[in-house]
Amino acid sequence: MGKIVTPDAANIQMAAGLIRTGKLVAFPTETVYGLGADALNPEAVARIFEAKGRPANNPLIVHVASAEDAASIAELNDQAQLLIDAFWPGPLTIVLKRKSIVPEIVTAGGDTVAIRMPNHPVALALIKAAETPIAAPSANRSERLSPTRASHVLHSLRDRIEIIIDGGPTAIGLESTVLNLSAGNPVILRPGMITADQIAGILQVEPQSLIMNKSKDADSKKLLSPGMMLRHYAPRTKLVIVAEAWDAAKETDASVAVLTTTPYTTIPENVIAYRVLPNDPSAYAAALYDVLHQLDECGAATILVNDIPSTGDWLAIRDRLTRASA
Ligand code: TXA
Ligand code: MG
Repeated sequence: MGKIVTPDAANIQMAAGLIRTGKLVAFPTETVYGLGADALNPEAVARIFEAKGRPANNPLIVHVASAEDAASIAELNDQAQLLIDAFWPGPLTIVLKRKSIVPEIVTAGGDTVAIRMPNHPVALALIKAAETPIAAPSANRSERLSPTRASHVLHSLRDRIEIIIDGGPTAIGLESTVLNLSAGNPVILRPGMITADQIAGILQVEPQSLIMNKSKDADSKKLLSPGMMLRHYAPRTKLVIVAEAWDAAKETDASVAVLTTTPYTTIPENVIAYRVLPNDPSAYAAALYDVLHQLDECGAATILVNDIPSTGDWLAIRDRLTRASA
């Protein structure tokens, strides 16, 4: 039975001991909570796949506490070094050629490994105390909403884990940007709150060159990042993106939940729950999964999500909402 513990020094040592003995620990990062195991211990990593119900062809991100740790598990190239200097610790995962020390189960048999250094004191303290890199997907059952609070982890993985270190709500709220640096031109495999513009500025390339051409690259995308299947990050309740959520709510008799950035004065009777988020991508992202967890619990037939701007700073949010509605 999962137990939520405070992030004090004694509990971090205790959790590090669990990691060293091949157990699972859920811990906070700046993006979402991770479900961690010793990345160099294949039996421990197998427990992650089991607890999540995750397909074995979906590789894991390895979390490190320094660029030196990254160099011990992957071949860093010049572009990686530039991006590490600019964005680590932070929500940018880079995919590089792996070194043989990384077990195949982590990389789903591939010759690349995804690595990031999280910007969270508890995550960094845990990795340092465990003295090993930590493989960690988001700490939720496969294809469900990612957890941004310890209570979300408990709700999703209750009997499947021992310890959840509670670091409070996560600051970024969406999973890291995943950037492939292992083959030819850099390509964003999963958009995140570090944007194409920011990465392009550091690498001195055109932002558009980082964005995958969906039709052209559909097949290669499947191979490169098997985890990027369309339905993902989804609540149980049906989610629909609409141009005007309040208007759409009035057009149906069914009970609905509404997520929007526009307040409304006379709430239609069939709206059994609604949340108004700030019209700002960082604030919206930080609250999104928590709000979707709440609206998912309210018993509505459908969650109506008001459409969001189509600018680059909203891209990661659009990606998650689109997957949740698939
Ligand atoms: O913010 C995050 O990245 C969170 C926190 C816990 O760090 N982690 C996370 O992990 O979102 P997960 O497993 O839910 O998503 C990892 C993504 C998947 O889409 C996976 O397919 C992709 O990264 N990935 C992992 N290793 C890869 C590799 N070697 N090549 C391509 N894609 C990879
Ligand atoms: Mg995930």
